[in-house]
Amino acid sequence: MSPNQTDPDVASFFRSWEIYRAVIDSDVMEHRAIYSKVHSILAQRTEPFTLLDLGCGDAAGIGTALEGTRLERYVGIDCAAPALEFAGQTLTGLDAVIDLRLGDLMDSINDPTQRFDVILVSFALHHFADDDKRAFLTAARERLNPGGEVILIDVVRRPGESRDEYLSRYGTNVASWPLEADKQERIMAHVTGFDYPADIIDEPQWAADRGFDVEEFYRGGNDTQCAWRLLAAQS
Ligand SMILES: C[S@@+](CC[C@H](N)C(=O)[O-])C[C@H]1O[C@@H](n2cnc3c(N)ncnc32)[C@H](O)[C@@H]1O
Repeated sequence: MSPNQTDPDVASFFRSWEIYRAVIDSDVMEHRAIYSKVHSILAQRTEPFTLLDLGCGDAAGIGTALEGTRLERYVGIDCAAPALEFAGQTLTGLDAVIDLRLGDLMDSINDPTQRFDVILVSFALHHFADDDKRAFLTAARERLNPGGEVILIDVVRRPGESRDEYLSRYGTNVASWPLEADKQERIMAHVTGFDYPADIIDEPQWAADRGFDVEEFYRGGNDTQCAWRLLAAQS
């Protein structure tokens, strides 16, 4: 099956939020280490800032990362309603306007009326074909305020690795995760059906081609995940 931004089966997997919750709780995708770095990045902002979180899920990582920052307004978009309910609980203690919306992240990034200081897309862009990822980056550059940045966190393929090779490697990782066998099976069924990670070389190059200054700030999970700051270069 090819990737499709409105694929209802992607939303269906995440409507059953308990599996992804177990992934976060066991920290097998390294949310703690990644979001500790995200906190350091956001804490550098000395002026009040707005943040758009696309595919926000339950906001577990970003919720902690935003504590003690100058966040003024958070907009979270997700296609899975249960995730948004959890996100509401996660973010309740933040002293900021919290706006959670059920919707498609591609529609949101293409909304020309919106501008943000920070756009976060974390473990969500790999559900899209490479053409759509490139279109996303083009639109994201247009949605940023001056001095803004995209924080891109995602699963990735090693340089030159095929999708099949990636799936085999990811399957070995998942088999080592401290989760019950039925959860591991459901995760791999989802990954096999719906995950199309970019080559780790390509994504930062696509961003640079679209006028971003790119800084990698995390690489882990046996090279299965990577995170970049995409800074709006001053023109
Ligand atoms: C792997 S979870 C990541 C959640 C969170 N951002 C994180 O880093 O833990 C992917 C999230 O993206 C959402 N998602 C997938 N495709 C989407 C789309 N086209 N529009 C909006 N949300 C989407 C899913 O519902 C899910 O909550």
